[in-house]
Amino acid sequence: MTSSAPVKRLYIKTYGCQMNVYDSERMADVLRPLGYGMTDDPEGADLVVLNTCHIREKATEKVYSELGQIKRMKARKAEAGGQMTIAVAGCVAQAEGAEIIKRQPAVDLVVGPQAYHQMPELIARAHRAKGEGLAAEFSPEEKFDALPEARHVTGVTAFLTVQEGCDKFCTFCVVPYTRGAEWSRPAEAILAEARGLAEKGVREVTLLGQNVNAYDGAEGGLAALVRALAKIDGIDRIRYTTSHPRDMDEALIAAHGEVEELMPYLHLPVQAGSDKILKAMNRDHTAESYLRLVERIRAARPDMAMSCDFIVGFPGEREKDFQATLDLVAEVNYASAFSFKYSRRPGTPASAMPGQVDEAVKEERLARLNALLSQQQQAFNEAQAGKVLPVLIEKPGRREGQLGGRSPYLQPVHLDGPDHLVGEIVPVRIVTGHKGSLTGELVQALEPA
Ligand code: 5AD
Ligand code: SF4
Repeated sequence: MTSSAPVKRLYIKTYGCQMNVYDSERMADVLRPLGYGMTDDPEGADLVVLNTCHIREKATEKVYSELGQIKRMKARKAEAGGQMTIAVAGCVAQAEGAEIIKRQPAVDLVVGPQAYHQMPELIARAHRAKGEGLAAEFSPEEKFDALPEARHVTGVTAFLTVQEGCDKFCTFCVVPYTRGAEWSRPAEAILAEARGLAEKGVREVTLLGQNVNAYDGAEGGLAALVRALAKIDGIDRIRYTTSHPRDMDEALIAAHGEVEELMPYLHLPVQAGSDKILKAMNRDHTAESYLRLVERIRAARPDMAMSCDFIVGFPGEREKDFQATLDLVAEVNYASAFSFKYSRRPGTPASAMPGQVDEAVKEERLARLNALLSQQQQAFNEAQAGKVLPVLIEKPGRREGQLGGRSPYLQPVHLDGPDHLVGEIVPVRIVTGHKGSLTGELVQALEPA
C-alpha cells in the first residue's frame, strides 16, 4: 500500500500478556501510515511506547524506573537536535492516568488499553503541540481528501482558498494527518485577492476550506470575512464550503439572514444519523443537535437549501443505525447530497474498529440512501417551477442562443438568451425542474424601478 521507507523510528516495549502483544502489533500497524517503522533499540527512537501491564507486583514501579532511563535518552536526543515522543499505553496507563505525566513529565501521552486505534490521533496531536509536522504516508484518495468539490470555473465565478487543514479527527478520515492543523489565511490577503477578481469580472466567490467555518483569520471569524467581502464592488454572490456543524456559530447564522450576497445554500455534512455511530466517528455532535442547528439556520434564512455528506456502513452500523440516517434525511429535506460507502483507510482509527460492515450491505444501504436523496433533490428542483429567480449567467450554453447559469441554490439553469448576458445576474422564470437542473426563460417585461 505504501511504497517509501518509513522515516521515523518506533520502539515498543511490551509487558505482560498475549493481549498486550497483540495490541502492540496493532499499534505498529496503525502508526505505519504516519511514517513509523519498528526499531528494537529505544536509544534515538522518534517514538517510544511502553505498553504496560499491572498484573504482576511492582509493575507500576518498574514502568517508572524504565521511564527514568528513557527520559535520559530523550534528553540525549534533544541535545543532538532531535525529538523523542514518549507514550505509555496499557493497564498501567489506565490505572494511573494523568498521574504518570505528573510523576514523569518527560511522558508526552498516556493511552488507555484497547485504545491503540486512537494512537494516530494522539500522536498527531502531541506532534502539533510541539510544532512538529508528520511524515504521513496515507495513500491519497481524491474523492475524500481533496478540497471541496471543484465546480467548473468560469470567468464569472471563482474559488478563493481561505482555510486549510483540520483539527477534528473524524475517525474515518485521513485529512488531519495529510493536511495538518487548521490554518487560516489573513483576511487582508483574501480581500485583496477578491478585489482583484472583481476587477477581472468575477461576480461570485466560493470560499474554500477543509473546515471553512472554523476560519479565524479575521476578528469575528468567517461571518466578519463574509461581511467584508460583501462590501467589495462587483462581488454579488458569496458561498463557502465545507463546514463542520461544530463551527457553525451564531454570528455566521445571523449573517445568512442579513447579508444579501450570502447565497442560501449550505453544505453541512452530518455523516450519519445514529448517535452511536456519530460518537464512534468522533463527530462531536448528535443527530438532535444537528437538527436543531438546521432549524436555527432556517429560522435565519427560511429558504436555505441544505446539502450534506453521508457515510454508510461505518464499522458497527446496524440496520437500525442506518434507519436513523434515513430518518434524519427525511426530517431535513436536502437539496443535494453526496453519499459514500465507508472505505477503510489504513492508519485511521476506524480502520481498526471491530464490526466492519459487509460490502454487499454497504451497497444496499447506499442504494436506499441515494434513492431517498435523489427524490428530495428532484422535489426541490420541481418546486422552483413558476418562481422567478435571480440567475447568474456563467457561460453560453451548448446550443447557439442558449445560456447556462446558476440559481441562488446552486442549481444549474438553462435558458435561451443572448451571449452578452454572460456575467449578469438576471431574473429568470423557472419553467421546469429536472433531476439535476432547471429550465427557465428570461423575464423580459421588467419595468425599470
Ligand atoms: N470512507 C467513506 N467516506 C469518507 N469520507 C471521508 N473519508 C471517508 C472514508 N474513509 C467522506 C466524508 C467527507 C467527504 C469529503 O468524504 O463524508 O465529508
Ligand atoms: Fe475529515 Fe472530519 Fe476533518 Fe472533515 S471534519 S476533514 S471529515 S476529519
